[in-house]
Amino acid sequence: MSNRQFELRPHHERVVALTGAGLSAAAGLATFRGPGGIWDENPDLEAAMDVDRLPENLPLLWRVWGSVFEKALIAGPTPGHRALAALEAKILTQNVDGLHQFAGSHDVDELHGSAAQAVCLNHECQWRAYLAVHLDESRDPSDPAHYGIPHKCPACGAPTRPDIVLFGEMLPTGVLEHSENATRNCDVFLAVGTSNTVAPAALLAPLARACGAVTVCIDPYADSARLAGVFDYVVREDAHTVLTRWADRRLREKRNPFLDPF
Ligand code: OAD
Repeated sequence: MSNRQFELRPHHERVVALTGAGLSAAAGLATFRGPGGIWDENPDLEAAMDVDRLPENLPLLWRVWGSVFEKALIAGPTPGHRALAALEAKILTQNVDGLHQFAGSHDVDELHGSAAQAVCLNHECQWRAYLAVHLDESRDPSDPAHYGIPHKCPACGAPTRPDIVLFGEMLPTGVLEHSENATRNCDVFLAVGTSNTVAPAALLAPLARACGAVTVCIDPYADSARLAGVFDYVVREDAHTVLTRWADRRLREKRNPFLDPF
């Protein structure tokens, strides 16, 4: 790992960004780990996010993930989300808040599902629907009706659930393969606002490195020693500052290809 500061250069054309909860923290969404992290502060909540706890954990799932969806929709994308869209980075996200799409990124793989959608508990049923936001706080956020979703699937009658990957569940079909292909073929692999602790997402950076990409972690609180085996550079700065700087620079390069190199 290098202590030199990494800067995105014009020859870094194929940029893949693996994003995590730290990128959305500026939108008011809590991270999972670290101070204020929802798992670290509520270990029981993390335990309840297991596939073995279905269906009794459904009200909790609606409350937790429905509130993520509502908060994200109200706050909108952060500067970091907008900068990644401006950089035309391919997005592989562990986040379920939809903020990359709101920012205008059009190539987004959601590894852990989407809080914006509901699916049927019956795996053989294809029903799915988008949640709606009702800013009526008197309604119960652990009730799917709060988000305009029926309790029972209209197609087969099984209960409905948020379209989130729980512990013990497979990732959505094809998403991991698609993400791995993008990772194998990038020039630069950025890990942004993620603790790089949850597999299989955490295995993408080593894959990128093995395939010849430059690997960069952007996290102001990163444990550089732990990450040294995986990342060529650890940028211990706020992601919004770094990504906005890179996006501004790229815009100026597009306008003036003869801009001085760094
Ligand atoms: P974590 O909560 O594990 O890590 C968030 C990271 O963001 C931490 O390392 C912070 O230091 C960093 N961070 C905070 N503010 C930042 C900033 N301004 N700029 C850059 N980095 C910042 O979140 P994830 O790695 O996303 O899965 O967690 C991965 C998965 O664990 C989640 O998708 C979730 C959880 O269990 C499921 O629920 C399936």
